[in-house]
Amino acid sequence: MNESIDKDATDTNIAEDNCEKVEDGVKYYTLEDIRVHNMSNDTWLIIHDKVYDITSFLEEHPGGEEVLLEQAGADATESFEDVGHSTDAREMLQHYLIGELHMVSMVAFIYPHKADSWTTWLIPAIAATVVGILCRIYMLEHKSS
Ligand code: HEM
Repeated sequence: MNESIDKDATDTNIAEDNCEKVEDGVKYYTLEDIRVHNMSNDTWLIIHDKVYDITSFLEEHPGGEEVLLEQAGADATESFEDVGHSTDAREMLQHYLIGELHMVSMVAFIYPHKADSWTTWLIPAIAATVVGILCRIYMLEHKSS
């Protein structure tokens, strides 16, 4: 009866399995997880932040397997859209869906140079220190006058 008794209070089921995260039934992969699937017998692609295992589709692809292998293990969104694939092609994608791109890797896409850079926190830290010093000087000057 009381099925929710074992459930996490936040209703979020998070498990880890070889770097892949499972949250609420959706598998999330990082760019590192995906990058290694770049061979003709093991081919993954990212299209619009979703991850596809297209190994079994390579030989069936009307545009040839070469173009798919060029993008293997990486984000193929731009090339996929450049071709102007039909609605049928977009529907076919669902058969190969295995998960989604992890949030951390999306940040790496948006800020490719900043995601793991020390400048991300150093500049705000220096700015905060300078403001703190200026405030102190200002308060000391006003106290003595
Ligand atoms: C799993 C992902 C993909 C699926 C399911 C898919 C499916 C298809 C399908 C069904 C067609 C026939 C035309 C149409 O219906 O639009 C096609 C053609 C084609 N695709 Fe893909 N495709 C995928 C990924 C890609 C990627 C990443 C490229 C990028 C280089 C690409 C390049 C092409 C080309 C060049 C053609 C031939 C277009 C033509 O001859 O007019 N495809 N694809």
